[in-house]
Formats: sequence, structure tokens, C-alpha cells
Amino acid sequence: MAEKKAQLSFDGINESFDLPVYEGTIGADVVDVSSLAGKGVFTFDPGFMSTASCESKITYIDGDKGVLLYRGYPIEQLAEKSDFLECCYLLLNGELPSAQQKEEFNSSIKYHTMVHEQMHSFFNGFPRHAHPMAIMVGVVGALSAFYHDNMQISNEHHRMDAALRVIAKMPTLAAMCYKYSVGQPFIYPDNTLSFSENFLHMMFSTPCEESKISPVLVDAMDKIFLLHADHEQNASTSTVRLAGSTGANPYACVSSGITALWGPAHGGANEAVLKMLSEIGDESQIDKFIARAKDKDDPFRLMGFGHRVYKNFDPRATVLREACKNVLAELQMEDDPLLKIAIKLEKIALEDEYFIERNLYPNVDFYSGIILKAIGIPIGMFTVIFATGRTPGWVAHWHEMISNPFKIGRPRQLYTGPTLRDYPDK
Ligand code: CMC
Repeated sequence: MAEKKAQLSFDGINESFDLPVYEGTIGADVVDVSSLAGKGVFTFDPGFMSTASCESKITYIDGDKGVLLYRGYPIEQLAEKSDFLECCYLLLNGELPSAQQKEEFNSSIKYHTMVHEQMHSFFNGFPRHAHPMAIMVGVVGALSAFYHDNMQISNEHHRMDAALRVIAKMPTLAAMCYKYSVGQPFIYPDNTLSFSENFLHMMFSTPCEESKISPVLVDAMDKIFLLHADHEQNASTSTVRLAGSTGANPYACVSSGITALWGPAHGGANEAVLKMLSEIGDESQIDKFIARAKDKDDPFRLMGFGHRVYKNFDPRATVLREACKNVLAELQMEDDPLLKIAIKLEKIALEDEYFIERNLYPNVDFYSGIILKAIGIPIGMFTVIFATGRTPGWVAHWHEMISNPFKIGRPRQLYTGPTLRDYPDK
């Protein structure tokens, strides 16, 4: 099937290998090195900087041009014209739904929003001060205990059921984490509300008082979920694929994705942005922190700036910047001290030579952190919200992998440990 070829030759081995080269519909070509193991050679690529771990039709990123496409549709157009649940359908099924398909999909999601009552007992086992991500890892993995028997991963309908269930239950579980941490009763989902409005309802309503949530906040929440819905083979999605490649239960796979997302280098960055703003503390300190960010001998970095893949701009940040302005205006919070620091930092960084030269723009986490803080969501919940948004991406990749011939993921290594030696006589 490959017309192009790459040639590889080695010093010391009197042979050169022809390797097939595959072309994607867009983006980089890939060299198929899978035959090398049979010739006693492995490739070495720590961090997978040059490795395409799979073939996928779901999401495309061009970091140099600031392009992010879900199934071919630009993220900016989806953020403007679509909504999170429609994007879930798109990611899972490959096409936008018809009006009827959209209605049916939304109803199926609503059908699954509640969690088993016994799930409440799981929460009671956690300390109230536990990090919400620690609880999420546990309770999402625990879903496998409830839906194990009727789950055959080779059955497409079972896979789709699992995908719908986990997308629908994530906001319920996420809001339960928050309610548990503040000692308030869990709020049941309200299926008359949209996905994002229902999430904010479960977060902020109490049995004594229904929260009144402005459409501007619901719209910003939905955009945060939508913009985080997929990002091709990032660390957490690769983790879900790797776990799924063993045939593991999908809820356990999603739980492993949550674990990978937790770190500050991945999903924990928006939490780090707010911690940094608190550390800066006052506008008068900003210059000092900017100087620290530029200082080669200081490990401090401006959180929420720069991106490994997007080297011009992060298209998701462009969308959220607008939503952020709307939220701050709606809540009349332009004078909030932390948010004022954030806005000043953004201005300085966009005008400062150091940041311009290195293409260090505010990334999606910078604005999502500010929006979530303004909405009143505690910072420990930020990564949980990222996980809720990323769930359709995780399950779409898992579903895509299982729908095609796949092998268990099993990387090899460059061994540099001791060579064979005998256990000493004592
Ligand atoms: N503040 C100050 N300087 C920075 C920053 C920053 N946030 N990011 C990069 N630099 C400098 C870095 O010191 C280097 O300078 P020089 O060329 O003089 O040595 C130059 O920019 C290139 O840095 P790099 O480390 O080679 O860039 P990278 O692509 O490896 O790192 C990054 C990307 C996101 C890890 C990094 O920009 C960073 O640590 N940012 C802050 C954390 C953050 O916001 N992370 C969230 C990213 S979005 C999450 C997601 O999409 O899942």
C-alpha cells in the first residue's frame, strides 16, 4: 500500500533496509519501522517526539499553524456553531449528527446521567480533604464493578453503551467530588437541563436553593468542555489506548487516562496557573515574576504560557479569551485582584520581546483557569473538569482502536544495565 520508501543502513551491519512510508490525508508522513524488530533492531524515541503510535481518523493538529480539527472541522467553527454533546457525537461517530440523531444522542446521554446509589458509599471512604482527582480515579474505575458483566469489548453496541455511560456520568461524579469536599449533599442530575447547565446545577444547587446560572456562564462552561474534548495522542489518550490494548474494561481505561491527566505538565496546568497568580499576590509583584520567568538560573516559568505543540498560537486559547472577557463582564469581576494580575500578565507577555521571540502565548489553560475561578469553581476541581471534557476523546480513541485490528501496546527499550553475571556464592 505504501508507494514511498525510506532506506535505513547501519554502521557495522552490511545491509540496508527498505522501510515503507505512509502518507496521511494531511500532516507528516510516517516511516513504518515495525519490521525492524525482526531484524534485531529497535528504534529509540523517548517521549515519543517522532513516533506515530497509531493510525487515527479522529483529530488533527498542526502546531506551527495553530490548527486543531475534530474529524476535519476547525475547532473555532465548532466552538462557534456546535456544542459539547454534538462534538461528542462527532468524535465518536465521525460525522455531525442529523437533527434526529442529535436528539436521540442527547436523550441517550440524559438516560445515563445518574450513578448507582451504591456509588455514594465509595465517596464516604475518602477523606473530605482528598484531592478531587484522587476520588475521580477511584470512582470512575469503580464504574467497571457495576457494568462488567454486560461488557464485551468486541461488541460495537456494548462499546457505544460504555462510551455514552461514561460521558454522561463524568459530570455527575465530578460534581459529587465537589459536594463531598464541602460537606454538602449530592445533587441529582436534572435532565431538563443541557449538559453544561446540568453540571453547574449539580455543582452549585443545594436541596434548599436552586442555583440560578447565567447563560453566559453555561456557554463558557460548554466551550471549556468542547475545546478539551480531544487532542489526538496526548499522554492521557495514549494511556487510555495502551490500557485498552490489553482488553481492559473501558471504565478502568478511562480511569487510567484520568491518572495520566493529573500531572501539572498535562491537565494540572490550569490549577498551576491559579496557584501562580496567588503566589504573585499583587500587581506590584508582577515585574519581579516576569524577571524570574526570564532568568535562566531560575526554574520558575509563567504557568499558562507556551505549548509543546502550538508554536504560533493555541487556537483553543483564542476562543476562550473571548469567553473569558464575557464571563468577567457578566460577573462584574474585572476588579478581582487575582484576575487583574492575570489580565496584566497577559498584556505584558504579549508585548514583551522575551515572550514574542519564543512564541510564548497564553495557552488554553491560562484562560480556562481564569474562567473557572470566576465561576466559583475551586482550583482542585480544574483538572476534574478537564477530565470531564476529555472523556469523549478518550472513549472515541478506545472505540477506534478496538474497532480495527490492534496489538497489545508493548514498547521495547535500549538496555544499559549490567550484562549477564552470576549470583555470588555467600
Ligand atoms: N515561561 C517562561 N519561559 C518559558 C516558558 C514559560 N512558561 N515556556 C517556555 N519558556 C522558554 C524556555 O525557557 C526556553 O527558553 P530558551 O530558548 O531561552 O532556553 C524557550 O521558551 C523554549 O522552551 P521549551 O522548554 O523548549 O518549550 P517546550 O515546548 O519544551 O515547553 C511547555 C512547552 C508547555 C512545557 C512550556 O512552555 C511550559 O512549561 N509552560 C508552562 C506550563 C503550562 O502552561 N503548561 C500547559 C501547556 S497546555 C496543556 C495541554 O495542552 O494539555
